[in-house]
Amino acid sequence: MSISTDSPIQDSETPPKGISAKPGTEHTVTIETLTFGGAGLAHIDGIAVFVPGTIPGQQVQIVITKNKERYLECRVLKVLRRAKDEVQPRCQHFHDCGGCTWQNLPYDKQIKYKEDIVRETLEHLTPVDADVRATLPGRVLKIIPSPQVFHYRNKLEMSFGFANMRTEEKAGKRIYFDENPTIGFHQPGEWSTVLPISECHLYDEQIGSLLSDVRRFMQDTRLPVYNPKTHKGILRTLLLRRGVQTNEHMIAFIVKARKKELEPLFQHFMRFGGRSGLTSLLVIENHGMNDKPEMPKVHTLIGRPFITERLFDLTFEISPFSFFQTNTLAAEKLYKAIADCADLNRKDVVLDAYCGMGTIGQYLARFCEKVVGVESHPTAIEDALKSAGKNRIGNISFFKGRAEQVLLDQLKAGGKYAFSVIVLDPPRAGLHPKATEAVLAHKPQKIVYVSCNPGTFARDLGAFLKGGYDLRSVQPVDLFPHTAHIETVAVLQRK
Ligand SMILES: C[S@@+](CC[C@H](N)C(=O)[O-])C[C@H]1O[C@@H](n2cnc3c(N)ncnc32)[C@H](O)[C@@H]1O
Repeated sequence: MSISTDSPIQDSETPPKGISAKPGTEHTVTIETLTFGGAGLAHIDGIAVFVPGTIPGQQVQIVITKNKERYLECRVLKVLRRAKDEVQPRCQHFHDCGGCTWQNLPYDKQIKYKEDIVRETLEHLTPVDADVRATLPGRVLKIIPSPQVFHYRNKLEMSFGFANMRTEEKAGKRIYFDENPTIGFHQPGEWSTVLPISECHLYDEQIGSLLSDVRRFMQDTRLPVYNPKTHKGILRTLLLRRGVQTNEHMIAFIVKARKKELEPLFQHFMRFGGRSGLTSLLVIENHGMNDKPEMPKVHTLIGRPFITERLFDLTFEISPFSFFQTNTLAAEKLYKAIADCADLNRKDVVLDAYCGMGTIGQYLARFCEKVVGVESHPTAIEDALKSAGKNRIGNISFFKGRAEQVLLDQLKAGGKYAFSVIVLDPPRAGLHPKATEAVLAHKPQKIVYVSCNPGTFARDLGAFLKGGYDLRSVQPVDLFPHTAHIETVAVLQRK
C-alpha cells in the first residue's frame, strides 16, 4: 500500500508517469490494497489511482475523473472479477447508501487492513526525519476488534425527506415536485433527496424496532415532511438512541414548526409515544437552514430529556446532542486500552482534554490522585458534572472552554496543576497548534493521544517527537466495523 506523496525519480528513457491516464479514459485495474479513507489502490503506468468502493483482489473497469499529477481519481464502471475472499454483503443498500465501505470484506481482513493503514500512515505522513519515521510502524500493536461486528451502533440519525425531487421552470417560477416522502439517509453528494432505508445492519436491533414505529407513525399521521429546497414542511430529522447496557430508549423528532403548530403536533407525538419502554420522547425545534440545530429548543413529551448508559461501573446521562461513543461495548475496550497505556499511579495528576461528558477521566480517576477535564461543548460539560456527582467521583473537576485557550491558561508555568499525564482526544481535525504548544511547554511525563484520524495524528505526533517525546506504542481499536474509520491510542514518554 502507498499513501506516499514523494514523487519517485524517473530516468529519461521511461515515459512520464500516468501519460495514458487522462480524464475520461477507461482502464482495467486490479486493486492492490486499501488506503486511509477507504478507497482501494491500484496503479496505471506507475501512478497511484484511488478507486472508491473496491477491495483488494477485485478487477475493475474505471474511468479517470481527475489527474492530480501525483495520483489519479476515478469512478468504477464495472466490477470485472470478484476478489477471492469477497463475501456477500448483508445489506441490500450496501452499494448505494455510503454508510458502509467494506461490508463485502471478511471482518478479520477489515481489521488487518486498518492496522496496516495506521502503520503506513505513520511511516509516510509523520513530519520527522526518514530514519525516525522508519521506526514508527514497529510501535503499532495488534488491533483490538469490536466485540460486536453487526448491530453495534447505539445511535441512529436519519433524515425525513423525499425519494424523488423533480423541478420544473414554469412562467419564470421554479416548481418543486417532491415525491415519495420517506425516511433514510442522504447518499454521498445528495443533500436534497433521501434514500429510503429498509434495513441497516449497523444500528442496534432495538433501534430498528423504534424506527418501524416511527415509519408507522409517518404513515398514520401523514405529517408534512420538510423540503430542504423550499424550507416548507415539518419533519426534518430523527435521532434514536439506546442505552445498550441499561435498555433505555430515546426518540427525538427534529422539526420545523411554528409555535401555533406545536400544540397539535405534540398531541400526535404523545399518542405515538404512548408505547411502553420509551425513556425519552423529545420534540426539538430547528428553524435554521442547516440540519444541525444551532440553538435547539427541546420539548420533553415523555420521560426525561436524556437516557442513561453504563460503561464499566459508571453511569452517564446522554442528552440528544452530546458526544458519546456510538459503540458502547467497543468503547469499554477503548477506555481499558487508554488506562493500560496511561499506566497511572496514585500520585499522577491527569488532564483529560477534549473530555466530552468526561467518560475517560471518570474511568481513570480511580487509578490516580486527580483528573481535570476540558471541553468546549456546554451541554457536554453539564452532563460531565452531573455524572461525576452521581458516580460519586470526588477527585475530578472540569473546565468549560476551547482546549487551546484553557490549556494555555491552565498549563502555563506556575499554574494551579502540574499534570504528569495528559490525555488528548481531539475531533478529526486533531490538535490546534496552540494546544500542542501548551502541552509541550507543560512537559508532562506521558502524553496519551486518542485519535479518530491517523492523518492528523501523524501530523501532531511529529510535533511531539520533535518536542522531546518518544513514541512507546500505538494501539488501534476497532469501533466502527464495515467502515473505514480507525481509532488509535498512542502513548508518548518524555525522554
Ligand atoms: C472525539 S470527542 C471525545 C469525547 C470524549 N473524550 C469521549 O471519549 O467521549 C471530541 C470532543 O472534543 C470536543 N471539542 C471539539 N473541539 C474542541 C475544542 N477546541 N476545545 C475543547 N473541546 C473540543 C467535542 O465537543 C467532543 O466532545
